[in-house]
Amino acid sequence: MASKYQAPRGTFDVLPEEARNRARIERAAATILARAGYERIATPAFEDTELFERGVGRSTDIVRKEMFTFEDKGGRSITLRPEGTAPICRAYLEHGMHKLAQPVKLFYGGPFFRHERPQAGRYRQFHQLGAEAIGSDSPLADAELIALLFELLDELGVPGVELQLGSLGSPESRQAYLEELKAHLRAHQDDLSKDVRERIELNPLRAFDSDDEGTRVVMASAPTIVERLDGEDAEHFAEVRSLLDAAGIAYSIDPTLVRGLDYYTRTIFSFVCDRLGAQSEIGGGGRYDGLIEQLGGPPTPAVGWAAGIERIALALDEAVEAPGRDAFIAVAADEQRRRATTLAGELRHAGISAEVDLADRGLKGQLKHADRIGARRVVILEADGSAQLRDMASGEQRPVEAGRLADEIGSAP
Ligand code: HAM
Repeated sequence: MASKYQAPRGTFDVLPEEARNRARIERAAATILARAGYERIATPAFEDTELFERGVGRSTDIVRKEMFTFEDKGGRSITLRPEGTAPICRAYLEHGMHKLAQPVKLFYGGPFFRHERPQAGRYRQFHQLGAEAIGSDSPLADAELIALLFELLDELGVPGVELQLGSLGSPESRQAYLEELKAHLRAHQDDLSKDVRERIELNPLRAFDSDDEGTRVVMASAPTIVERLDGEDAEHFAEVRSLLDAAGIAYSIDPTLVRGLDYYTRTIFSFVCDRLGAQSEIGGGGRYDGLIEQLGGPPTPAVGWAAGIERIALALDEAVEAPGRDAFIAVAADEQRRRATTLAGELRHAGISAEVDLADRGLKGQLKHADRIGARRVVILEADGSAQLRDMASGEQRPVEAGRLADEIGSAP
């Protein structure tokens, strides 16, 4: 029955079986984050292109190569959101959330879009869960957010997870380091990949992220920013580490950690999972103290993360069982069909899942169907108005009063 139409390259359908897995992941995140005072926010699936150019950064792969950008009918440039942090900062400013108690703690989930080369764990439409605390520069906020993502992955039972931690310092203190790094890259220009060479001036940090063999050799001897942190940046980083130690959260310091978005300052982190192959990052984030100002607001420190739902589901690789149906109301005679519908409605109202035949099957066909959909009990409405209750596991059947069905089915194991 295949049609010539298929989901576009790099996208996928979430079928009910998979949807059950994802619902469990989303529920766990919502519960854990709500308990810590994070409130749900939703922003549009598209924004003005400039928001991402300014927010995510013109030198990033995301803005240079991966955005789904188009003109709307009014000639405005629109982009399907590649990430959620810049839109949330836009919303924070647009709705004057700086007047609320700070930090404003938000969480979100939904689809995001990046025109990447599709492979396992990397899609063009994917889904993130994310959390942001806007309006605090305290290391306590960094540690709280890291602990929440740790708790989520732990509670879901994601195996083989490791936390990598780094710091980028503040933009002012980073400047001297970047000059040093650029000098190192220039000195080894000929061994670098074309892409890295072209971005020495624009985004030298990205060289740490390159897969190119020659570039990797050059980066092995490059100075790292973590070694160069000083003053308040060093203190902030030490405090985040000490808070994680106190919380018993294991991590390794990765002095070469960089992330694909330009807005990060100070703490950055990445949860990787050894079950995921090449796309090993399950979630990550960091502090972005300059982003709100970059978007035209007052200086407002903030920190957050996002995790990929598909990557969590891939790492878990488990099926959540289909919910069975409590009851199926079958009819032995067509005149009973309306009554079956009414009864099913009453049972549903009482919190019992109940279905009726919607395909004009005979009684035998209805029983077969009830078995196929996993109904635990079948009520059979006879032609004379009496009712039988059949237990599908044991095959046992007995007369039952229709008026007492909700009690009988509700109290059964
Ligand atoms: P990101 O690292 O670009 O950060 O994405 C976060 C997560 O989204 C990744 O760790 C990964 O699990 C998932 N992800 C990213 N791209 C794809 C893809 N093409 N296919 C499947 N999954 C993907 C951000 O987006 C930041 N906004 C995170 C953040 C929030 N930083 C501060 N606050």
